[in-house]
Amino acid sequence: MTVRVAPSILSADFAALGDAVSAAERGGADLIHVDVMDGHFVPNITIGPPVVRALSRVTSLPLDVHLMIENADRYLEAFAEAGASMISVHQEATPHLHRTVSRIKELGLRAGVVLNPATPVGVLEEIGGVLDFVLVMSVNPGFGGQAFIPRSVEKVAAIRALLDRMGSGAPVEIDGGIDVSNAARVVAAGAEILVAGSAIFGTADPVHATRALREAAASGAPARARHG
Ligand code: DX5
Ligand code: ZN
Repeated sequence: MTVRVAPSILSADFAALGDAVSAAERGGADLIHVDVMDGHFVPNITIGPPVVRALSRVTSLPLDVHLMIENADRYLEAFAEAGASMISVHQEATPHLHRTVSRIKELGLRAGVVLNPATPVGVLEEIGGVLDFVLVMSVNPGFGGQAFIPRSVEKVAAIRALLDRMGSGAPVEIDGGIDVSNAARVVAAGAEILVAGSAIFGTADPVHATRALREAAASGAPARARHG
């Protein structure tokens, strides 16, 4: 299995996003995770398509756009045009999930569904088979720098098992409170994409922090292979 690291620019200096992305690249980042918040679904407000477009000009890494917004359908095309490669939408905020996921795929992007900490794994029963990835929130969405919810490890394993049963190889992504202390554990449970904001951009040396997270994550990978 390949573990990918997706630094979240939410914890970066918004006045110097180009520098942040370049540091993440030098540290070996695989994706750039972009947190879009609307002040309705989540209490915080962040950024929209113009910033995604600006990021796409300064990096060739895929942009992983995490929509924490209501009415996601209204904005899918704008994010696709701005240069997103992956778009994920929350199960809790998206009433016509199958339609939204189909639309993301029609736009030529990878489509993911996000589950909040209190959302049960079973909501993926009907939609899991058509997803390109599943994003497990290991904090309540809205802010960077929150503590990792330990129960998320079992949730990753349960989602991996559910996807395997469906014959889906879609990777499980995990987001919230990820750092070198828990990276190996979530990878051992089946996570293949690790999002990290404060553990990378909250440090004095984001290049080193990206590298350190990759190494910590890789040390969890063989354990999962052993357990099949
Ligand atoms: C939280 C966001 C996360 C956030 C993670 O709602 O979805 O992507 O940036 O930040 P850390 O890694 O600091 O928990
Ligand atoms: Zn996120």
